Order: sequence, then C-alpha cells, then structure tokens
Amino acid sequence: MPRFLIKDTAKHVGEKVRVCGWVNTWRAHGKILFIDLRDISGVLQVVFVPSSPEVYELAKTLRPEWTVEIIGQIVKRPENMVNEKIETGQVEMSVENLKVLSKAETLPFSIEGDGYDINEEIRMKYRYLDLRRERLKNNLIVRHKLIQFVRNFLSQENFIEIETPILTKSTPEGARDYVVPSRMEAGSFYALPQSPQQYKQLLMAGGLEKYFQIAKCLRDEDPRGDRQPEFTQLDMEASFVEQADVMDLTERLLISIVKNLYPNKKIQETPFPRIDYKDAMAKYKTDRPDLRKDKTDKDVLAFCWVVNFPFFKTGSDELGYPDGKWKPTHNPFSRPKEEFMEDLLHKKNIEKILTTQYDIILNGFEIGGGSIRNHTPEALEKVFEIVGYKKETIIEKFGHMMEAFKYGAPPHGGIAWGLDRLVSLMQDEPNIREVIAFPKTGDGRDPMMNAPSEISKNQLEELHIKIETPKKKKK
Ligand code: AMO
Repeated sequence: MPRFLIKDTAKHVGEKVRVCGWVNTWRAHGKILFIDLRDISGVLQVVFVPSSPEVYELAKTLRPEWTVEIIGQIVKRPENMVNEKIETGQVEMSVENLKVLSKAETLPFSIEGDGYDINEEIRMKYRYLDLRRERLKNNLIVRHKLIQFVRNFLSQENFIEIETPILTKSTPEGARDYVVPSRMEAGSFYALPQSPQQYKQLLMAGGLEKYFQIAKCLRDEDPRGDRQPEFTQLDMEASFVEQADVMDLTERLLISIVKNLYPNKKIQETPFPRIDYKDAMAKYKTDRPDLRKDKTDKDVLAFCWVVNFPFFKTGSDELGYPDGKWKPTHNPFSRPKEEFMEDLLHKKNIEKILTTQYDIILNGFEIGGGSIRNHTPEALEKVFEIVGYKKETIIEKFGHMMEAFKYGAPPHGGIAWGLDRLVSLMQDEPNIREVIAFPKTGDGRDPMMNAPSEISKNQLEELHIKIETPKKKKK
C-alpha cells in the first residue's frame, strides 16, 4: 500500500490510506484515544476506539516522538470538532492497523514553539531533534525553494552551474585559510576556498561565459550573528559584461524572489537606490546603511547598492596580505573604474583609485558583493605590486591567473550573495545559524559531531605532523 503524505489525506475522505510519522501528542477523552500524527507535510488527528482491542491496547502505550505506521480510513470529523487552522482540520483517521516503528526516550528539550529560549549549545548538540521544530524545518524548506528558484532563473538566463574544488590554494578574501595537510606531498597543504573567486575567473578564461554555483566557502574567522566559518554563497560570473549588467541581473533576481516566494513583503524602492561609498560614510557612518523608513515593520525590504569604493585602503590588519601599506578594500581581482586604469598601471594616485566593486545591502546587512575584474595580466600584476607582494610571491601565488590571462581572456565580472544572510533576513531570523541545518558555535565547534577533534597517531604520522603544544581543554 503506498504511503500518503498527511497533507494529502484530506482529499481522500472515505478511503483507506497508509500514513507514517511521529506521535506529536497523545490524549484520552474518556475511553477514546487521540493522537496527532506528524510528518514533513502536516499533522493528522488519529482516533482509537476500544472496539478494536488489539490496536487500542497498543495505542495506549504510545508516547510523543515514537515513529509509527498507521493504516486506517479517512473520515469527516463531527461538525463541532473541525479545526480550521490546519490543512487536515476537516478530517481524522479511524484506525485499522497500528505498527510501532521505533520508540523514543524523553527529548532533552521541547520541540514545540520557536525554541529561541533554549540554550543554543544544547540545540546544536541535538540538532537532529531541533530540526523537528516547525520553525527550523520551515526555514530549510524555504531555503530549498529559494535555491530552486535561483537555479531555474539563472538556467533560463543561460547560466551554467559548475562545481569548483574544495581542496585548493589560498584565495585572499580577508580571512584566515583553513588548511588541509597533503599526505602524498608531506609538508604541503591545500587551502579550503574562502570563495571560488579564482576558479570562476578561470572558468571565464575557459570560455564558459556564464557560471553560477551554490558554493561552500570556508573562512577561519570568529563567527558572529551574520558570520559562520563555513557558509554558502550564490556565486556568479559572466563574460563580456559591465557593472550595470551584473547589477541588473542581481536586481531582477532579487525582485523575482520576493514576488514569487515572499508576496507579503514589500520592497521599499525599485530600482534599488545607489549610494556612493563616500556619501554612505558621510551620511550614515557605515558602508551598509539601513534605509528602511520604518524599522519596526518587518515586511519592508530596503535594498540598496553601495558603489564607488576606493580600490585600496591603508593601515588595516586585513589577513592574507603582505605587511605593506596598501590593501584592497575588497579583493585584489577587481578592475578599477575605467578613468583610473592609467593611474593603476602607473601606480599613481593610489588613494584616489576607485573600483568597479558593488555591494548589495538589505536592511543594513551586506548580502552580496562583486566587481568587474582585471582581465589583463599587466593590470592584475600592478594590483599585487601595490599590495606589496614581491615578484616571486606573485608568480608563486597568482602565476596561474596571470598565465591564464595571456591567452585571450574575456572581460568579465560577477557577484556573490551570502545565501545564509539573505535567507535569514527574509525569514525574519535573528542570525544565520537558524537557516543552516548544522551550524557551528561561536567558537567554531560542532557540538553534535564533536568537531574539531583529535586524529589518531597513525593519521598524524602519515601526514608527518607532530603536535607540539598540549591539547586545549574542551569546554
Ligand atoms: P565577499 O567576501 O564580499 O565576496 O562575500 C560575498 C558575500 O558572502 C557573505 N559572507 C558571509 N556570510 C556568512 N558568513 C561569513 N563568514 C561570510 N563572509 C561573507 C556576505 C558577502 O557579501 N569572491 C567575492 C565575490 C565576488 O567578487 O564576486 C567574495 O567572496 O553576504
């Protein structure tokens, strides 16, 4: 007998169906026993009466969160028992057969309600239970729908979804790298990608023209509300495009997402306002201004672009760069605005050079950023020189990029959205952990898997690694 999803049972009054799920609640009304059975799609009221003694006795033993399989008839509820609030509120199931699939101990916390007040470390340790919570389950379903929407939208625009490696070499994005030791080449390390930046540019050199990826990015930095060591970008790149093309695509896609998936939300202003970096700093003292006129209305979405960033900044402790005077404000692959190209090539007026960078802001959060890139080896090399890389280091770290640009690289540019940030804002969640299935704690741990953890002596030996400092005590 095929399994029915609970939400579909209401359409099958009078029929015998099989359903599976969790015992959500159990209650007795006189001699009649009721359970609410829950599956991914909804909740169904199931009724047990003493006239079928075998099933009835078993039903008495049921407890919350046991998984069961039930065969029974879908019947209309008595008029006074109808519950308009749920999809199956008109019906209930009259049981013929009950099978217990597994029992459950008492859960370490309640999965009813929103769960915000429960200690988050415990929620993460038992994340698989926390995910049974309606709110979290819904966040992941909506996240899936959003990704699906993006995939369809971009495919229709002839973008190709391409995976890029996770075992790679460092791409500076202003954070520390996570590194992975190589067994075959003792003493050498892969870096996990802070973003697919270099690969997507190399795909453009490879003639793929329009690329996107739902990409895992890894940055060893202290997590906070809108930052995780491991997060997801919607990463895009296209050839023969200008700033306006990438911004227009981003804007159309964001507007379509809101219209199709969040019809209750209102975009404050379209086209999205564009603000110069220096005006944003002068007026709002931040490069990610919250432009909402009324910050109490949760359904208002104030998108804006921040543009005309300086290419270089001084005196910052940005990671992954040499100790020189200048650092890129974003990443070193950006192209300056056309009128500053001569200055870049002559390394003149460095503080005045503006980049083609565009950041997209939503309600005060940076949800994405990108730029048009330098696609000639000369221009790229100048950026590295200004940042203070020695010639040999440029060749060692970025030689492959300069080499790739020697063979007819197309002009190109792109953007990456912080997908977790976008979904958390759209779902009105206070932080991105609520929209990630298995997030990390504030100090970068996974309390459920107990990661990071020690590895065996054998593994260490194979990798030629010696641990010198004593292990820090776990919390
Ligand atoms: P950038 O570093 O600005 O650009 O990253 C793009 C977007 O990713 C999100 N983001 C994060 N989200 C969660 N946790 C983090 N630790 C985190 N860090 C960044 C932000 C940000 O706007 N390669 C370039 C993109 C490009 O130029 O095309 C890049 O990675 O929402």
